[in-house]
Amino acid sequence: NTEKLSSARFAEATDAFVEVFTASVDFDKRMAAQDIQGSIAHAKMLAKTGILTDDECAAIEQGLTQIAGEIERGEFSWSIKQEDVHMNIEARLTDLIGIAGKKLHTGRSRNDQVATDIRLYLRSEIGQIENQLNCLQTAILDLAEPNAGTIMPGFTHLQVAQPITFGHHLMAWFEMLQRDRERFRDCLKRINVMPLGAAALAGTGYPIDRALTAELLGFSRPSANSLDSVSDRDFAIEFTAAASLLMMHLSRFSEELILWSSAQFNFIEIPDAFCTGSSIMPQKKNPDVPELVRGKSGRVTGHLVSLLMLMKSQPLAYNKDNQEDKEPLFDTVDTVINCLRAYADMVPHIRAKKDNMYQSAKQGFATATDLADYLVRRGMAFRDAHEAVGLAVRLGLTTGRDLSELTLAELRQFSPLIDADVFESLTLEGSVASRQHIGGTAPETVREAIRTARQAMAAG
Ligand code: ARG
Repeated sequence: NTEKLSSARFAEATDAFVEVFTASVDFDKRMAAQDIQGSIAHAKMLAKTGILTDDECAAIEQGLTQIAGEIERGEFSWSIKQEDVHMNIEARLTDLIGIAGKKLHTGRSRNDQVATDIRLYLRSEIGQIENQLNCLQTAILDLAEPNAGTIMPGFTHLQVAQPITFGHHLMAWFEMLQRDRERFRDCLKRINVMPLGAAALAGTGYPIDRALTAELLGFSRPSANSLDSVSDRDFAIEFTAAASLLMMHLSRFSEELILWSSAQFNFIEIPDAFCTGSSIMPQKKNPDVPELVRGKSGRVTGHLVSLLMLMKSQPLAYNKDNQEDKEPLFDTVDTVINCLRAYADMVPHIRAKKDNMYQSAKQGFATATDLADYLVRRGMAFRDAHEAVGLAVRLGLTTGRDLSELTLAELRQFSPLIDADVFESLTLEGSVASRQHIGGTAPETVREAIRTARQAMAAG
């Protein structure tokens, strides 16, 4: 079928370039399965309400099922003459079953059809994303567990701040991903509303049963306003916003992995399988996977901005502009799934270089706050303690020693409140072990956080 879409109204054929320019089938054919699923539900509803006969509905369902098979096997011939996924499938259906195929579009428009397809598509992709998130979160927990007591420096301003454990740091990543998961789930509530029945924009005069179609497709309810149904892409923007946040998180993990695997930090080993060499420098092992993921976060945020710009000046209801929603959305889905997969595969093989982490924590006066807290416990006001410890740090700096390497006599110069038991507070182990409150870095507390996290994940 090479005839122009709604050709009767036109005196001229479409310009050859315009035909190519306006066609979307090359990319929207990705939603073929959802398009067919939506059409079958629509046909069933039309039969149930007496708008089509049961025989017509059966022929439509059988024809669409055959088309689904042709598409899956790669036998379907897509044509840009048919513009998009919807018209390609409808034209093929009519080739296969004749007049009943021409009745499928009764009480429907591509405007409510495409909005339905995208929602069905995103609903299923969110399921995939959740699975990948699960794998990555599990990998993080599995790495955190044996490292619940692995001491490393914690940073602020990228300067050594206070000792923490590697397990605690990993659990921070876990929390970030947990929020991402919640955001996708929340977004799913608004995705899972059915536009079908809105038709072009004003609804339809046929006695349709939207609740039935919604039920058949597993939507929680039909949308409430026909204009809004065909013009709304908020759900796609929300999805892309959730994806942008997730990618921003992955980018921050990447940044840390890249720094930590450098010779200057030397905290971790990223497995060879996730790195590549240099074409010129024989010694190089580059952290390509984290770098690429960091780069791809920009791409997804770009898609978010594209979608916002796409929608911002459109009058109600449907406009052809909306066809531009698909490529950013599809690329967002692919990028997120691929990046999560790469991370879920890589994280279990990251090796912590515990000695190096420990030595680094020892070198940065990481327990200075603990010394101040010691003085406070002995009755000094915190601000005075801060001052006294500052002087002790200065002595350490000028003599090239950590606070724990100063003698008791030297320490007592800064306050007579200091006794021999001070050295317990100056050890890295003592520092982390003392932080036992909810959310703290004490190894026992981190193990507890891991247990709680596993329970939350098992509960879904
Ligand atoms: N390919 C179109 C899209 O992606 C389908 C809807 C077309 N509707 C229309 N009135 N031209 O948005």
